[in-house]
Amino acid sequence: MKIIVIGATGTIGTAIVKKLREEHDVISVGSKSGDYQLDLTSPVEIEKMFKRIDNVDAVVSATGSASFEKLENMTPELNAVAVQSKLLGQINLVLIGQHYLNENGSFTLTTGVMMDDPILQGSSAAMANGGVAAFIKSAAIELKKGIRINSVSPTIVEESLAVYGDFFKGFNPVPVDRVANAYIKSVEGAQTGQNYRIY
Ligand SMILES: NC(=O)c1ccc[n+]([C@@H]2O[C@H](COP(=O)([O-])OP(=O)(O)OC[C@H]3O[C@@H](n4cnc5c(N)ncnc54)[C@H](OP(=O)(O)O)[C@@H]3O)[C@@H](O)[C@H]2O)c1
Repeated sequence: MKIIVIGATGTIGTAIVKKLREEHDVISVGSKSGDYQLDLTSPVEIEKMFKRIDNVDAVVSATGSASFEKLENMTPELNAVAVQSKLLGQINLVLIGQHYLNENGSFTLTTGVMMDDPILQGSSAAMANGGVAAFIKSAAIELKKGIRINSVSPTIVEESLAVYGDFFKGFNPVPVDRVANAYIKSVEGAQTGQNYRIY
């Protein structure tokens, strides 16, 4: 399969790419890194990517930013980071990409544990995660050409503890390899409309 992975150089993306490259042709994408660069918050750049990279069977998104902030300090502007990036960026990938993807292709997006298990300062990220998960469930029943769609909802991964560990006290971290397997299941399996919770 020819597979686009956005966020390919990140903690989770690197693990996904390593597994996918064993059997597939992977095009790694980031805003500054990878084989191809795009800013996921730009629908124009998303469309340009699909025009430049043809014959794509699967799109994986392992990216999406959000502001971590106390609710009392959360502003519309800070919340807009997650809206533009993790929520609309990923959803626009599907809205635009559905017209380019090969028959029986797939989309795999990323949500996260905060949608199910709240943490302090996590309201904006939780909003985006929940929105993406709800979109996927609904989009799955309408996508044409046999195209499937799923998301992966990781908990904090062991490899990110140094950066985010203080937000996730008492959570059980999982190895990134286990999270990457859920993306493989989505790409290579037959399911659609799922949000794989790796908690
Ligand atoms: N790590 C965890 O423990 C964890 C747990 C639950 C959920 N998640 C979710 O999983 C996703 C990935 O997390 P991560 O920790 O692997 O992230 P990460 O290590 O920070 O990597 C982010 C990746 O996204 C790319 N990127 C950043 N901004 C972009 C943009 N505007 N357009 C296109 N690509 C962009 C980066 O490449 P460039 O630098 O080249 O832009 C990089 O490849 C996020 O949605 C996160 O919320 C992570």
